[in-house]
Amino acid sequence: MDTVATVSEVPNFGKKVVSVSGREILLVNVKGTIYAVENECPHQGSPLAAAIVKDGFISCPRHGYRFNLKDGHCAEHPELVLATFPVQLNGDAILVDLG
Ligand code: FES
Repeated sequence: MDTVATVSEVPNFGKKVVSVSGREILLVNVKGTIYAVENECPHQGSPLAAAIVKDGFISCPRHGYRFNLKDGHCAEHPELVLATFPVQLNGDAILVDLG
């Protein structure tokens, strides 16, 4: 696992983009739970940094498809899956497993 940021850098209901091993990862804080997803929509590649997060889903700003933050599955098109990554917290440090 790689330390990619600190919890204090990702405000509650906020996001932060980090670059890890050449990949852009989007960190999302929902009431203290940190999710890590690829910062690229699996539909047509739009960045998700400006996406709206609601009810456990992140909505792509381009066409509005919603992806489950836990497993990346798309609510509208199940064949589309957003890459998600396991997250661990160690004190204030956010660790992400890029596999
Ligand atoms: S590019 Fe994300 S929904 Fe189309």
